[in-house]
Amino acid sequence: MSPGSSPPPVHRRPRRSHARLRRGTVDDLDLLLEHRHRMFQDMGGRTEKDIREHDVRYRRWVVPRMRQRKLIAVVAISPEGAAEASGCMWFRETHPVPASQDRECPYILSVYTEPEHRGKGLATAIVRSLKEIARKRGYTQVRLNASDAGMGVYSRIGFERTTEMRCYLTAKLRKRNKAAHALL
Ligand SMILES: CC(C)(COP(=O)(O)OP(=O)(O)OC[C@H]1O[C@@H](n2cnc3c(N)ncnc32)[C@H](O)[C@@H]1OP(=O)(O)O)[C@@H](O)C(=O)NCCC(=O)NCCS
Repeated sequence: MSPGSSPPPVHRRPRRSHARLRRGTVDDLDLLLEHRHRMFQDMGGRTEKDIREHDVRYRRWVVPRMRQRKLIAVVAISPEGAAEASGCMWFRETHPVPASQDRECPYILSVYTEPEHRGKGLATAIVRSLKEIARKRGYTQVRLNASDAGMGVYSRIGFERTTEMRCYLTAKLRKRNKAAHALL
């Protein structure tokens, strides 16, 4: 390279995953709960005690919904059989709105990738697959609440911000929300 000339561009090969996606069942419950627990840890702003208490309530809530197929899961599995990532979708009831016959709105939740497998497209593949399931079932939209880490992934595959607003009704939640934003 001659003096003063700029270095050649570095083309980083994207890391590819060899994982395959499969549908999760109630047999995957411990894994799905573990991923959800670690998702909240990574997102920050919650105490370990609050997350642990939530784990118990979430387990109680999720089991009947999985059995009734009101909540489905997709898990990314390595060729060796290890779970590297997961995500869920809940078919939640919704109110009538003009120009849509949907009485349920698929809502994506609990998207988590093990730290050593991040940046390989696993969350993207899982969310794409959940979107496709919803589309095949005839729904007209899919919703989710994005963490800061998830925002880029979701935006790139077609999710956009909505006009939904929120008002916390307890001082504890207002304080926690303020603290979480102070960390940004
Ligand atoms: C958010 C989260 C689920 C993303 O998981 P992931 O499997 O790493 O996501 P992807 O690999 O699909 O995309 C992540 C990034 O890698 C990039 N990427 C995707 N495929 C890639 C590939 N083959 N090679 C290199 N980079 C790739 C994406 O462009 C994306 O870039 P970004 O960092 O600018 O957003 C993960 O970071 C996580 O579990 N975080 C903690 C919990 C959390 O916040 N969950 C979301 C709740 S809404």
